[in-house]
Amino acid sequence: MFFDTTVHSSEDARRIARRRLPWMVFDYIDGAAGSGHGERLNRETLRAIRLQPRVLNGVEHRSIEMPLFGRTARLPFGVSPMGMCNLANPSADTLLAKFAAQHDVPVGVSTVASTSLEKMIELAEGNAWFQLYLSGARESSDGLINRAEAAGYDVLVLTVDVPEVGRRPRELRHGFTMPFRIGPRQFVDFACHPGWSLPQLLRGAPTMANFGGAFGEFDRTGSRAAANWAVLDAIRERWKGRLVVKGVLDPQDALRLKSAGVDAIQVSSHGGRQLDSAPAPILALRAIRTAVGPEFPLFYDSGIRSGEDIVKAYAMGADFVFLGRPFSFAIAAGGARGLAQLATLLAEETSITLAQLGLRDLGTVTADVMADTAQR
Ligand SMILES: Cc1cc2nc3c(=O)[nH]c(=O)nc-3n(C[C@H](O)[C@H](O)[C@H](O)COP(=O)(O)O)c2cc1C
Repeated sequence: MFFDTTVHSSEDARRIARRRLPWMVFDYIDGAAGSGHGERLNRETLRAIRLQPRVLNGVEHRSIEMPLFGRTARLPFGVSPMGMCNLANPSADTLLAKFAAQHDVPVGVSTVASTSLEKMIELAEGNAWFQLYLSGARESSDGLINRAEAAGYDVLVLTVDVPEVGRRPRELRHGFTMPFRIGPRQFVDFACHPGWSLPQLLRGAPTMANFGGAFGEFDRTGSRAAANWAVLDAIRERWKGRLVVKGVLDPQDALRLKSAGVDAIQVSSHGGRQLDSAPAPILALRAIRTAVGPEFPLFYDSGIRSGEDIVKAYAMGADFVFLGRPFSFAIAAGGARGLAQLATLLAEETSITLAQLGLRDLGTVTADVMADTAQR
C-alpha cells in the first residue's frame, strides 16, 4: 500500500476521496456557490469559536446521546439529505441507511436520492426523514408526500433555500447534469478513475430513483421560485407528521415558521451551495436561537467537520446537528470501513471535547462553554 487510507479526520476522508473520485463527481460533492467564499467563511467562523477548558470535574463517564423528537439518538449527529449519494460509491445510500439504523440517528432521504424513498426507510429501519424540495407546483409535491406517508415516514423535511439552484462553477465546468450524460470529457475523466468507474459500470449508473415511469421525470435545475407562505401552510395542513423546514438563515423567517406551526427549523446554508454571500450559518443559528427562545427545536447543518465543531453547534443553540459532505467523502474513501471510521472519530472527538470542557453530558452544553464572553 502506497498510502494510508485510514480516515482519522474528515479532512482525511476528503483527501482520499479526491484521489479516488472522477473530477466531475468530486467537484459536484465538494463544490459550492460562486467563488466558494461563503462556504469557506462559515468553516473559518466555526474554527474561530473558542471553547473554555475546565479542569478536575471528574468526567470519566460521559454521554453524547441526544433526545430527538421523543427518541434517543445514540450519536449527536445525523446525515443531511444529499442527492445522488451513490455517485460516491454504488452502496452509499445503503451504507448511510444502515448507519442510521445502527445508531438511531436520522438519514435524510433527498427528493433526488439515488435509492427510492420506500427502500431507504426500510433499510434505515424507520430512521429516515424524507426531504422535499418545495416548489410552487402542488401536484408534484403531493405525489411525493403521499408516497412518503404510505412508506411510513414520520418526518418531512421541506427544503426552502432553493428557489433557483445556485450557480456552482465547479459543477458547470464539468458539464455535470442529473442524470449525467457521458460525453468525451466525462469519458476521459471516468477512464482515469477505473477504481470508481468499474464498480459503477457493474451496478449501472445511479439514477434519481424517486422518479421515472409513472412518476415522471424531475428537473433538478427547474425553478421553485413560486413557492410562498401559502404553499407552506397547505403542506402544514396536509402533513400530519413532524415538519422540519430546512435552509433558514433569518430570524424573522424563523419566527414566522414557528407561528406557522412547523415542528423544527434546520438552520443551514445548504453547505454554502446556494448564496455565496450569505451570512455564516453558525452565527445565524445563534441569532435564530435568540429569536425563537430556548424551547423551540432548532437543527443545524453546514460546515461541521469535527467533534469540536459539533459541540460548538450545540453551544450556539442547536438541538441536533447534521453533516453532509464528510459522509460522502468517507464512503468514497473507504466504503463501509470509511463510514465507520468517520462515525467513530466524530463520536470520540465529541466525547473528548466534553471531557476538556469539564462536562459529562452533551445535553448540558450551553453558550457558557465558549471562551470569548462576547460570544455567549
Ligand atoms: C452533494 C450534495 C447534495 C446535496 N443534495 C441536497 C438535497 O438533495 N436536498 C437538500 O435539502 N440538501 C442537499 N444538500 C445539502 C445538505 O443537505 C446540507 O445542507 C449540506 O451538505 C451541509 O453542509 P456540509 O456538506 O458542509 O456538511 C446537498 C449537499 C451536497 C454536498
